[in-house]
Amino acid sequence: MKKTVRDIDVKGKKCLVRCDFNVPMQDGKITDDVRIRAALPTIEYLRDNGAKVILMSHMGRPKGQPNKEFTLAPVAERLGELLGGAVIFAQSDRVVDDGVVAAVAAMKDGEILLLENTRYREEETKNDPAFSKELAQLGEIFVNDAFGTAHRAHCSTAGVAEFMPAVSGFLIEKEIKFLGEAVNDPKRPFVAIMGGAKVGDKIPVIENLLTKVDALIIGGGMSYTFFKGEGLEIGTSLLDEDSIELTKKLRQEAADAGVDLLLPVDVVCAKEFANDSETLVCDKDKMPADMMGMDIGPKSVKLFSDEIAKAGTVVWNGPMGVFEMSNFAGGTRAVAEALAASSAITVIGGGDSAAAVKQFGLDDKMTHISTGGGASLEFLEGKELPGVAVLEDK
Ligand code: 3PG
Repeated sequence: MKKTVRDIDVKGKKCLVRCDFNVPMQDGKITDDVRIRAALPTIEYLRDNGAKVILMSHMGRPKGQPNKEFTLAPVAERLGELLGGAVIFAQSDRVVDDGVVAAVAAMKDGEILLLENTRYREEETKNDPAFSKELAQLGEIFVNDAFGTAHRAHCSTAGVAEFMPAVSGFLIEKEIKFLGEAVNDPKRPFVAIMGGAKVGDKIPVIENLLTKVDALIIGGGMSYTFFKGEGLEIGTSLLDEDSIELTKKLRQEAADAGVDLLLPVDVVCAKEFANDSETLVCDKDKMPADMMGMDIGPKSVKLFSDEIAKAGTVVWNGPMGVFEMSNFAGGTRAVAEALAASSAITVIGGGDSAAAVKQFGLDDKMTHISTGGGASLEFLEGKELPGVAVLEDK
């Protein structure tokens, strides 16, 4: 168990808080503020307990250069609206400079200040101790609440912990509780659903989950590589050529572990990768050579939904098809609906599956939706996340 802000006295202390404010933006506007909202409990707790709250985050990948496209100014504004009070935005292309040091020194208890995008500095992603020290001079306690970035060992997520006591915020505490309990102490039967494009990217997660689950459902783009491994015609579907042999190994591992491995039994195919393309629904062994799989078919929906209905715990990562196109969103929607209707503990790994659940308006029907895409995947792989490893144990 890691120490949290509850375990320390924060009154009058300068708390340097790492959040993940890497939110989607369009034309300078935030299009989804879930990650900002997820950071509020920690920020409010620190503010209400008289801390000086110095927030830091990255946004996008500006490659170590100041770039207005990636400024955190819109985040400071949105945070101020959500907190019902001004947030000081300490804009600096260097992130830390004399002006920023002075602004922090002038803070009163309960005030909140946000630094500029930490990735304006090239040292950040290299975890360079000199930049960690620059950041660390601004605080007395490091609070990491950036679960979405906890799989990165960067100055602001890990390096600063070398220079001061480090504890977790409430978001990291919550993410570890739900993801950790789901994987290590699940209510059974435990069903994992994996989707998405490349098998190669998900191998370590699948291998780790195979040692824990009762059933593993595989859908989405990666199922065509499994079909290919069976010697089936997959037409122009997505194929992860390098992983064909691996799919055979994974089938064997599932069999050895006594895990039910469920793959789609039918497919919605399209002539082209376009929403208005001509379509065909067919069994998995009848795919035409000139079409591509875009979604799971109705028989697969029934198969998967029945399995979900029996589950005590479900962890879901990756869509069943091209859900961004309305004509190929049916399978992903049906899986989301099966999860929403089930009484199981439902944990959604971040990224695409979180976006899908939100798109279908089913987000409030899930037990937990992770704010971390890559981070939740690495957690499900069984890895210790660097941004968590640096925190003090209780
Ligand atoms: C994410 O969105 O997954 C995190 O904010 C990490 O971003 P990164 O992949 O650019 O490190």
